Amino acid sequence: MAVPRTAPILVASNRGPVSYTLGEDGSLTARRGGGGLVSGLSAIGPESGGVWVCAALGEGDREAARRAGDSHLNPGDTGGQQVRMLDIAPDVFAAAYNGVANSVLWFVHHLLYQTPVEPVFDAEFAEQWAAYESYNAAFADALAQEAVDEAVVLVQDYHLALVPAMLRERRPDLRIGHFSHTPWAPPDYYRLLPDDVAAGVLRGILGGDRAAFLTERWATAFADCCAAVLGAEIVRDGDDSGSGVVTAVRFEGRETRLGVHGLGADADFLRERSRQPDVDERLSTLRAQIGPGRKSIVRVDRTELSKNIVRGLLAYRRLLETRPEWRERVVHVAFAYPSRQDLAVYRDYTERVRRIADEINEEYGTEGWTPVALHVKDDFARSLAAYRLADVALVNPIRDGMNLVAKEVPVVSERGCALVLSREAGAYAELGEDALVVNPYDVEGTARALHEALRMSDDERADRTKRLAAAATALPPQAWFLAQLRAL
Ligand code: G6P
Repeated sequence: MAVPRTAPILVASNRGPVSYTLGEDGSLTARRGGGGLVSGLSAIGPESGGVWVCAALGEGDREAARRAGDSHLNPGDTGGQQVRMLDIAPDVFAAAYNGVANSVLWFVHHLLYQTPVEPVFDAEFAEQWAAYESYNAAFADALAQEAVDEAVVLVQDYHLALVPAMLRERRPDLRIGHFSHTPWAPPDYYRLLPDDVAAGVLRGILGGDRAAFLTERWATAFADCCAAVLGAEIVRDGDDSGSGVVTAVRFEGRETRLGVHGLGADADFLRERSRQPDVDERLSTLRAQIGPGRKSIVRVDRTELSKNIVRGLLAYRRLLETRPEWRERVVHVAFAYPSRQDLAVYRDYTERVRRIADEINEEYGTEGWTPVALHVKDDFARSLAAYRLADVALVNPIRDGMNLVAKEVPVVSERGCALVLSREAGAYAELGEDALVVNPYDVEGTARALHEALRMSDDERADRTKRLAAAATALPPQAWFLAQLRAL
């Protein structure tokens, strides 16, 4: 049965707001996810008639998608939201998601390749790219079916870079925006991609009315790639000096506007959630683990190559080596939650993180003191507990679209927390003044910053944290989402 065209607002993303596990008895258990997009969409509420189109990610999702057919998922599972989950053939999905999106586009935007040997674009990649095209086409088809005349469509992230152009072809009446949650690569690095792929991704996004980013830096890099790869014209604000802010890209007779929306932390939600009993309970456990009178350096990440967890541990080791006064007086609480474990390079990285943490504990640990407390099991309540007690937060990514941990910690912190922040995180643009800023590759410099952070006076830490929290909450998720709708 064909889906009627009823949706005035649509969101499309690879990962949806809900995931399912399939029980042995064939029952499905739904689990609702969090994140900026989920809270952002709550600004319009289920009564708006909005529809979220996402992909089925695992076996449970696939079963739920099959049972729903062309209809939406059970609203009881999704908090009332209308969600269409696409059951894409597993091999096509794996090639698009693991092969192209996470192994290639993610690596390019985060500068993760070891270029003397990688990347290699061979026949296998050509097949994966074809799968990526058909996975994007499945989204474009579903959106075209669901959207009412002149609806607004917000397409999310690098998984769906081709959707704007594909959707415009199917439905020229729609207003289409694309939002990148990642950094954007500079042209020289971006051109590692095969020419047709490099051009295809840019043409895909330029098919929309608007392309938006988390910071000015990523928007400018995108425009620079459009100029370098496609010969597109960059439109800037202000005088003719060529130094103004980029506002649009002109290509083949069309203009795509550029926008910047720096997603902020959701202060109301975080303050409320972090005072719940399950968080209190974890706080007591963590306090006991750290030990009385000791300081804590906290980090919370997915175990993700771009997060630079290994160099963070090396910097901590260097701190203990060069500043023996901190031995027995500090614990590094590192939460590194499993991510993208289908990819061998992520599994290897996780192993490496574990190994270095063990080494540090062997080298420096004493009977009553374990220098690194590494946790690899995802637990949001425990992360919030760590935010509450942290004396120092370490956020040192190689590159990051924004990094919400840097924005959440100052909001939740109880006594003020010094922030050691990579200048390569998008959050640096808003938080740089009150953070201790590091070059993420510089282990020695990061060790020095950790020392400074640990030594910071209580007053200074509290003052800085107040200013950081204000900057971090300037654009909460609901406002972030509405700003994009308005702009379209
Ligand atoms: C980044 C991306 C998101 C993605 C998330 C988790 O934040 O920008 O689009 O959903 O990582 O990655 P995963 O592969 O688990 O969805």
